[in-house]
Amino acid sequence: MIKTDVLIIGSGIAALSVASELCKYKNKKITIITKGPIKACNSSLAQGGISVALSDKDDYHWHYEDTMEAGCNINDADAVMKLVSTAPQVILDFIKTGMVFDKDSDGNLAFGREGAHRLNRIIHAGGDRTGLRVVEQLLRTITPDVTIIQNEMALDLRVKNGKCSGVITRNSKTGEINYYTADYTVLATGGIGQLYPSTSNDITITGDGIAMAYRAGCKLKNLEFVQFHPTMLTIDGKAYGLVSEAVRGAGGILVNDKGEKIMEGVHPQKDLAPRDVVSREVYAHYLKGEKIYLDISAVKDFRAKFPTVTEICEEHGVNVDNKLLPVAPGAHFHMGGVEAAPEGITNIEGLYAVGEVACTGVHGANRLASNSLLEGLVFGKLLADYIEKTPQKADEIFDENSSLLLSSLPEKAEIQSQMMNFVGIVRHSGQIHKIIDWFEKYSPDKNFGKISIEQNTNEQFEIYNMLTTGWLVAKSAESRKYSIGAHYIVKD
Ligand code: SIN
Repeated sequence: MIKTDVLIIGSGIAALSVASELCKYKNKKITIITKGPIKACNSSLAQGGISVALSDKDDYHWHYEDTMEAGCNINDADAVMKLVSTAPQVILDFIKTGMVFDKDSDGNLAFGREGAHRLNRIIHAGGDRTGLRVVEQLLRTITPDVTIIQNEMALDLRVKNGKCSGVITRNSKTGEINYYTADYTVLATGGIGQLYPSTSNDITITGDGIAMAYRAGCKLKNLEFVQFHPTMLTIDGKAYGLVSEAVRGAGGILVNDKGEKIMEGVHPQKDLAPRDVVSREVYAHYLKGEKIYLDISAVKDFRAKFPTVTEICEEHGVNVDNKLLPVAPGAHFHMGGVEAAPEGITNIEGLYAVGEVACTGVHGANRLASNSLLEGLVFGKLLADYIEKTPQKADEIFDENSSLLLSSLPEKAEIQSQMMNFVGIVRHSGQIHKIIDWFEKYSPDKNFGKISIEQNTNEQFEIYNMLTTGWLVAKSAESRKYSIGAHYIVKD
C-alpha cells in the first residue's frame, strides 16, 4: 500500500497545473502516475496555442461570446465566464515563472488567429510547439517536490460507499501491482482519441478515465460530442499527426485535386469556419474518393512558423516546399466526460476530474480552438486551490479478490473502425443501435468489481476501457436526436 496526499493520474497540462499550484503551498505529498513516459500526452503534441484575451484590442467578454457560439450556446455559461475572466491573470502569472511565449517585432506577445475567433487571440510558444513548451515549463516548476511514476497504468479506482480513496495500478515495465491510498484522487487522463482510427491523440489516450469513472459510479455528461479536426496529415488513408489550424489562420487554404477551394460558399468564415463544419466538408470530399490538400502557398516562413508540422511532413515524405499537404479529418478532442465543476469536483467524494477527461460544460457542443490548454491551466489551478482549502481524509479500503477474466476481447482496430462508422463525423440515427448491440456483447455495464486485477494484462484493461467508453459515447449519441455542434446526425 502506498500512501500519498494527492494522487494525480495523467501528465498533461491539467495534471501538471494542479501539481504546480499545489507545490506553492508546500504542505502535501503529491504523486503523479502516468501510463507512459512523462511527456507522452496530448498536451505535448498540441500545436495550437492558448487563447486568452490579453491583447489591447481584445476583451474577455468577446472571448466568452466566441466560446459560447462555438459551443452552440449549450455551454455552462458560468464555467465559460470563470475560464475566460480568470485566464489573463493565470497566463501573466505563468509568464512570471519563466514561461516564454512568442513575441512580435516590438517585443510584445504575438497573437495568432484560429477558427471561430473574431480576432487574433492565440499565443504560442516555439511556433507550433506550445503544448510541449508549456509541459516542460510546468515540469520545471514541480521538480523535485513531486513524485513522478512513469509507465504505470491506473486499472481501477478504489471506491467504497460512494467515496474514492485511491487507485490500483500496474507498472508496465516491472509488472508490479500497486494499491495507492490518497486523500484526493485526481483524474487527468485526457480524452478518447484512440477510440478512432485517425486521431491527433497520443497512443496512450484510450478513454481509461471515463471507463474507470463509470465503474466508480461517476456522473458523465455530453459524451456524444467528439470534435474531429479537419486537417490531419493523411497519406494512403493513414493519419500521421496534426496540421495545425494556425496554418489556415496564417493563410492556408483547403483545395481538391483540381486546385478548387472547397470551403468557398460553404460558410462565411470559409477555411476558418467552426471545426465541425470544415471537418464535414473535407470528409464529404474524402468519401467521394477525392484527395484534399492544404495549400500553403500563401503562408510566409512556413518552416520557421510551423517547425513541428514541417518535421511531421518530412518524416513522412511530404516536401513542404511543394506547398500541398495531403489532409483528412481525425478525432481530436472530447467535449464530454466526467461531470465536474470548474474546480474538478465530481459526484464521488474524494474524486476530482480536470482537463479533457472532465466535462465542466465549458466547451458546450464544440470546443473553440485553443481553449483546451487554457482549460487545463486555469481549472488545474482552481482545483489545486480547492484542495488546499478543503481538508479531507481517505478511508481504509479492503480490496476484494475478483476473478473475472477479460477474454475474447476484440482487436483495438475493430473498435476504432466501428466507432468511425457509427459514431464518427456523421451519425445515422437508424444505425447507432448496431454499435450499441455490438458493444453489449462484451458486457461493459455488468462487470463492476469483478475484474481480476492479477489475471488481466494492462492491454486487456485498455481494450475493455475502450469498449466501455465507446459504448457510453454511442448510447449518448443515440439519445441526442438532433444535430448540434460536433454531433451531426442524419435520419436513416
Ligand atoms: C490546432 O493546432 O489546430 C489545434 C488547436 C486546438 O485544438 O485547440
